[in-house]
Amino acid sequence: MKRIILFASGSGSNVENIVNYFQEKPNVTIAMVLTNKRDAKVLDRCNRLNISALYFNKQAYNNSDTVLNLIKDVNPDLIVLAGFLWKIPEKYVEIFPNKIVNIHPALLPKYGGKGMYGDNVHKAVKENKETETGITIHYVNENYDEGSIIEQQKVALFPQDTYQEIAQKVHHLEYEYFPKVIERLLQ
Ligand code: GAR
Repeated sequence: MKRIILFASGSGSNVENIVNYFQEKPNVTIAMVLTNKRDAKVLDRCNRLNISALYFNKQAYNNSDTVLNLIKDVNPDLIVLAGFLWKIPEKYVEIFPNKIVNIHPALLPKYGGKGMYGDNVHKAVKENKETETGITIHYVNENYDEGSIIEQQKVALFPQDTYQEIAQKVHHLEYEYFPKVIERLLQ
């Protein structure tokens, strides 16, 4: 049985999509969902989906080994950041080399780095009149959005697309490709 830990900071629609995808795969389990937001919508989703979910604070994450020990206890095959907005501490990257993957809602190296998340990314893409955007699934290293790229998928944009429509197009790509890439990495 392969075990996945998911990290999320907000709505968690990707978490829900990944959970649903693997519900039909008997050899993969979502062991735990971790969030840094006490009131994140992802917690309600996990409750409804019957998935263990835990909130942690900065102290447990950065200044002690609480979260790290939680992860070690699960001994996951993959740690997946699905809309997680805190930087991953270097220590985690050292302990779990090539086991932490992130999804970014743009075509890295464009629109990456600190502050570039969610709608900020889509607004910047719109502002710059890009004719395409997409998703990047990549390994996590010690710098924001700089780990080696596993997969990118693109979608065309039109001048009249609002940033909300751009976000929707990107979410579609995420729902279609993220679970499949995770599955491939577990094989
Ligand atoms: C997703 O679009 C994900 O790519 C993005 O946050 C969104 C979370 O949506 N991640 C980042 O911006 C990371 N820098 P969700 O909570 O509905 O899954």
